[in-house]
Amino acid sequence: MQKSSLNETARALFADGKGLLAMDESTPTCNKRFAQLGIAQTEEMRRAYRELIVTAPGLNESIGGAILYDETIRQKKADGTPFIKILEAAGIIPGIKVDAGAKPLAGHPGEKITEGLDGLRGRLKDYAGMGARFAKWRAVIAIDDQRPSRSALEANAHALARYAALCQEAGLVPIVEPEVLMDGEHTLERCAAVTAEALHVVFDQLHGQRVRLEEMILKPNMVLPGLACPCQPSADEVADATLTCFLRAVPAAVPAIAFLSGGQSAELASARLNEMNVRFQSRAPWAVAFSFARAIQQPALDLWHGDAANVAAAQKALVHRARCNRAARRGDYSA
Ligand code: 13P
Repeated sequence: MQKSSLNETARALFADGKGLLAMDESTPTCNKRFAQLGIAQTEEMRRAYRELIVTAPGLNESIGGAILYDETIRQKKADGTPFIKILEAAGIIPGIKVDAGAKPLAGHPGEKITEGLDGLRGRLKDYAGMGARFAKWRAVIAIDDQRPSRSALEANAHALARYAALCQEAGLVPIVEPEVLMDGEHTLERCAAVTAEALHVVFDQLHGQRVRLEEMILKPNMVLPGLACPCQPSADEVADATLTCFLRAVPAAVPAIAFLSGGQSAELASARLNEMNVRFQSRAPWAVAFSFARAIQQPALDLWHGDAANVAAAQKALVHRARCNRAARRGDYSA
């Protein structure tokens, strides 16, 4: 295995069974989650919520890296300490979401392309200067009878590969996130076929853009049926379908696969990750890990509800889910 500082960072993020906490919700996404709970959608409430997360005692036992957003990387604790300093002091490596969101892809009704390549070289330099050591870019792929088109997969994979090459040039580890969405009635088999095709296209483009696989992280969806599919599989069926797909499509040089949760409940996401590690750990060449947002944060957000009196309870819930997922990496999770 090639040794380099980016490879070392990629490994450090997942050392000792740890994983990533995605706390990189854009302002509109964070506001949407707050609105669902009746929490005021203000900059100060978003800051207070992020302070709750970064100061949660014991978070660093299970979380090796936290993905921030442009607003968050500049935010500070009430006492003036920058969040990035709090994370660094806890040994949690800071990362940053750098895409500019998914926009409609011209000529492809119902499909999206993730934007953000213009000016990216300069923004990566700025974020690296602030202390970020890795970055994230998310492409979204929707499934229905007609979609995804090959051309939408290729456009998104090309952007992911251009972004990843720029990250490596800037000294940041790229997280490459092609997310096949759970919305719809499609079967597990259809998700497996679409995920496999998406991964083949992504790794072809990564190769084309000369991205060093040892110095990146893949952040994919698990292979799951659509939320509206009547046939919902057991955790071991999800584990089999997911790792069969990834063993075929993801080169062994990639240090880690860190799954997103994508709208699964916190418990299901942990149970499925656990089953993958129980059944495949000895065969998987990469770490089988997590980079969850909702599946770590949602129970804590529900408890917090925008009330300072609930901060300690919410922090306990957050750290509990993080620990559950560390256990799942070892195959030791029980609900
Ligand atoms: P979820 O785990 O909530 O899907 O979020 C992960 C993420 O970072 C989406 O880009």
